[in-house]
Amino acid sequence: MPQTLAFDVYGTLIDTAGVVRELSGMVGELAPAFSQRWRNKQLEYSFRRGLMGEYRDFSVCTRDALEYVSRELSAPLTPNQVSHLMACYRRLPAFDDVHAALPGLQALGHKIYAFSNGLAEDVDALLRYAGIEHFFLDIVSANEIGTFKPDPAIYRHFSTRSKTPASECWLISSNPFDVLGAATVGFNTAWIQRDPTVPFDPWGVDPDQISTSLTDLAHAAGLHQ
Ligand code: LAC
Repeated sequence: MPQTLAFDVYGTLIDTAGVVRELSGMVGELAPAFSQRWRNKQLEYSFRRGLMGEYRDFSVCTRDALEYVSRELSAPLTPNQVSHLMACYRRLPAFDDVHAALPGLQALGHKIYAFSNGLAEDVDALLRYAGIEHFFLDIVSANEIGTFKPDPAIYRHFSTRSKTPASECWLISSNPFDVLGAATVGFNTAWIQRDPTVPFDPWGVDPDQISTSLTDLAHAAGLHQ
């Protein structure tokens, strides 16, 4: 039966580590650690802004996190380098399995959405850069209601926007915090375990489906029927 699929973007469809090569030319061998730290700090800033009720859009969290990590790692960046890295963040690559999985899911009639903390214009740029924008019915951004995942309000907003009861929505994400957030409001959940060394959060709530890639997912969870 066709389902409504809410695909997380950063880390699930799009590889945030795709910026490492650009970083290497600026901070040398610190680049992989810098990239990981940048991503973690970006998320921390979004969580903190959500808790504080001090919403600024996700690109602000991204830029502030970049500035922070540059200071933390004593790896100064020029204003031009910051601008360049922020531009690169709109041209990150999609994971390889995205190209393999989406056509099959679309052919089965599933309603496919991009669902992200990111600004719709930034997500649109990423999907277009990857050449996958045509698979998506729409982009649902946290910016529409001024909060961030995993605020339950954003999952309810997705349900409203997609005109699908929560119990019939699937959240597909590599981010455990996203899976738990969606499960809290009654979504079906698929966790894409992109890094086998990273465990799921031990909160007593399991994803409905665990897959190591999006191509595995396409064969599971009844999404192939
Ligand atoms: C997103 C972040 C959370 O795309 O990865 O929503």
